[in-house]
Amino acid sequence: MSRFQRAIVVGASSGIGEALALRLARAGAQVAIVARREEELQRVAKEDPERLHPYVHDVADLDGTTALFERIEADLGGVDTLVYAAGVMPGVEEGEYSFEKDRAMITVNVLGAMAWMNLAAARFEAARSGTLIGISSIAGERGRRGNPGYCTSKAALSTYLESLRNRCSRYGVNVVTIKPGFVDTAMTRGMKGLFWVISADEAARRSLAIAQRGRSSGGFVPARWALVAWVVRLLPSFIFKRLNF
Ligand SMILES: NC(=O)c1ccc[n+]([C@@H]2O[C@H](COP(=O)([O-])OP(=O)(O)OC[C@H]3O[C@@H](n4cnc5c(N)ncnc54)[C@H](OP(=O)(O)O)[C@@H]3O)[C@@H](O)[C@H]2O)c1
Repeated sequence: MSRFQRAIVVGASSGIGEALALRLARAGAQVAIVARREEELQRVAKEDPERLHPYVHDVADLDGTTALFERIEADLGGVDTLVYAAGVMPGVEEGEYSFEKDRAMITVNVLGAMAWMNLAAARFEAARSGTLIGISSIAGERGRRGNPGYCTSKAALSTYLESLRNRCSRYGVNVVTIKPGFVDTAMTRGMKGLFWVISADEAARRSLAIAQRGRSSGGFVPARWALVAWVVRLLPSFIFKRLNF
């Protein structure tokens, strides 16, 4: 895993981000792990204190991103990989239209990603190398009735990552969009009707395998979700709006 030597994983205190950080560390990378919950970050860091370095940060503190990025850069002696896995998906009830929840999802899932990715992209473009990995979702493929704010945030993240890829791939920067299906994490715990559920570690393994290819635009995790995405995108609106998901 030589292309990932000095990594930042934002949203590394649990779930997919934690699993990605552990895998990167196991492969020999120095990894800055970023999230709000200090005790969870400490728990993750204990797995490999030599390689996992905790930084407590709320991505909603958008103005604090630059200072923290620079601090991590100085601590690690540079950064060649940024993984943005932070995300929230509060439950939305039938008949509920909560701007507070929508704002939280857009702030964490989209604005936070832009704040971190822009800083990394500028450096990677100048260095003519580097990898940006964004954890988006199959939920961004269509606007489903169940959670408009979440679908919007993931569609925005996927589009942002595509633009970033088109902007900096010519400078040797690899921008990878990962679109998981259902993953067994705190985010999905207790949810009904899930299928093809994989573990966070399996999601991390598959995500890094895609990113490792280099010059890959990303993919669905696992790949069979590409078929679902294809069908879902083809469904005409008059059918899609009758569906209950
Ligand atoms: N689970 C799934 O089925 C699934 C499917 C598709 C995509 N995804 C995406 O995968 C990503 C990881 O989610 P997960 O399933 O692993 O859920 P998770 O276990 O709840 O992890 C979410 C991570 O985001 C961090 N986070 C949330 N708000 C934050 C904030 N304001 N500032 C900093 N960090 C914040 C959390 O850390 P703190 O709470 O400590 O801050 C945590 O580390 C998300 O982007 C999610 O949308 C998940």
